[in-house]
Amino acid sequence: MNRKDEHVSLAKAFHKEKTNDFDAVRLIHNPLPQIDVKDVSLSTEILNHKEEFPFFINAMTGGSKKSLQINRDLAFVAKECRLMMATGSVTAALKDESVSDSFKVVRKINPTGFFLANIGAHNTLENAQRAVELFGANALQLHLNAPQELVMPEGDRSFSDWLDNIAEITAKLEVPVVVKEVGFGMTREAMLQLISAGVQTIDVSGQGGTSFTQIENARRPKREMAYLSEFGQSTVISLLEAAQVTRSFEVIASGGIRNAFDIFKSLILGADTVGISATILNHLLSHGVEATIEMIQSWQEDLALLYTMVGKKNTHTLETVPVIFTDEVWQWCQARSID
Ligand code: FNR
Repeated sequence: MNRKDEHVSLAKAFHKEKTNDFDAVRLIHNPLPQIDVKDVSLSTEILNHKEEFPFFINAMTGGSKKSLQINRDLAFVAKECRLMMATGSVTAALKDESVSDSFKVVRKINPTGFFLANIGAHNTLENAQRAVELFGANALQLHLNAPQELVMPEGDRSFSDWLDNIAEITAKLEVPVVVKEVGFGMTREAMLQLISAGVQTIDVSGQGGTSFTQIENARRPKREMAYLSEFGQSTVISLLEAAQVTRSFEVIASGGIRNAFDIFKSLILGADTVGISATILNHLLSHGVEATIEMIQSWQEDLALLYTMVGKKNTHTLETVPVIFTDEVWQWCQARSID
């Protein structure tokens, strides 16, 4: 099976609603919200434009026949729900023109939508430009996936040029650049390095949902690095790390988002918007396009109710909602002097 198709079927096979660090974030209830639902605006600003809703469909697939259909469906869902969307890595299409339709389809479905293309941080500026041109992407994601590559026998073994590539692409590309993890999370030190390289938008993409060490391990019978299945910093911890970085930059939360409450908690923890991959993919493959649109629309309705519950009329004021942390998140805060 094509590697990208295998990723999709394994991500679906492993996807189950599990406990993660979002459960260790407890809101302190305010019995007097003092606002009306009709006054709430869910909009947010990200990548130099305004988004009506504070979440989006994050990078997943492309590069095969099967993924063409998935990207077509995801782009349709994104259009109907008025969300931005990232495709999976377009590297396959940069090497083989015959699979480029599996990415271009998103633009066909939604000519005016806001789309992000995606490539790995090992790529050159020229590849970054070609990735954007492929379907007229409005922004580019550069992914960091070292543990995934290392678990793959055929994966990359050279990571020494990533930061230089990122600095050059960020400085010279004509569209905004997001540097994202793929489910292993970030630290404040790594974010400071990225900011020093000129990066303005970081997707922390943390542990708690899709695990690419688990997926890559499952693709082969022999290699055993099962101990890395839950490796990395959770999304919650990564957001707490991001909040320690004083220089201003845009923060995207992703990794393990299961429902509107996790989106809401991410926004409270300082995210400017929130990316969802496996939960949407799984719903699409299990229940179809219409049911996925319904799920997302119910999240949009829920979010307006949740903002009201805490007495906040807009996204950027959510950061002042009081929360407490339990269990391992609390221990992480202690160990890293986060108060
Ligand atoms: C991904 N992800 C991903 N990320 C990326 O930057 N480039 C890619 O090509 C892919 N491919 C991909 C395929 C599939 C099937 C899944 C489920 C995910 C990673 C994704 O964008 C995200 O960072 C992680 O999946 C964590 O989020 P979830 O899945 O827990 O919501």
